[in-house]
Amino acid sequence: MVLIIYSQMSIKLTKIKKSDLPFFLKWWKDQDLITLTSGNFDEPDEKLPGYFFKMIESKKDHHYIIQYDEKTIGHLALKHKDSNTFEITIVIGEKEYWNKGIGIKAIKKALLLGFNKLGYLKSYLEVRPENIRAIKAYESCGFVKKGLKKYPKNRYQPVTLKMVLNKISPKLKI
Ligand SMILES: CC(C)(COP(=O)(O)OP(=O)(O)OC[C@H]1O[C@@H](n2cnc3c(N)ncnc32)[C@H](O)[C@@H]1OP(=O)(O)O)[C@@H](O)C(=O)NCCC(=O)NCCS
Repeated sequence: MVLIIYSQMSIKLTKIKKSDLPFFLKWWKDQDLITLTSGNFDEPDEKLPGYFFKMIESKKDHHYIIQYDEKTIGHLALKHKDSNTFEITIVIGEKEYWNKGIGIKAIKKALLLGFNKLGYLKSYLEVRPENIRAIKAYESCGFVKKGLKKYPKNRYQPVTLKMVLNKISPKLKI
């Protein structure tokens, strides 16, 4: 029997690179992931490489690969909103790695980076209100529910829950 001790797991955020494209082509076409996220990538296949290269060449945003034991398992981004504020997005695309505490550890690494290295003061994210696993993971890092945002023209995601976290919040857990 193989015993995997996830508390000793090695999780890294590494800078995204062009050769990561095949992972994104797979994740962006995965219906489970589309249902849990914004659905923005439910697009024709030929558009996706262009979207990927535009994304990774952004001068303002910071895109990372989530690596678990050197394996590429997901994508985490810190998106610049203004000089004080960044948005976090996270997708663990390899589903066998869900629910093992990896998301919480990756988000905490991103908060350390955003608040302590990049100098931001506030973080926020938007999540589907029914995505309980994601909401629990964000709460475990200190995010609090701010309220619902409506996007009546977005057929994939007409409503999101906004969650926020300040660098000086007593709830911040990193
Ligand atoms: C959301 C995501 C990043 C979370 O990462 P993860 O590694 O799976 O989550 P973790 O194991 O770190 O934490 C999950 C938390 O949810 C809880 N949880 C999981 N399933 C749950 C359920 N059905 N009901 C209630 N709580 C649940 C876990 O107990 C844990 O909370 P705890 O630490 O307080 O016990 C990851 O699952 C993912 O990428 N999912 C697909 C894409 C997605 O939803 N992205 C977020 C879009 S906003």
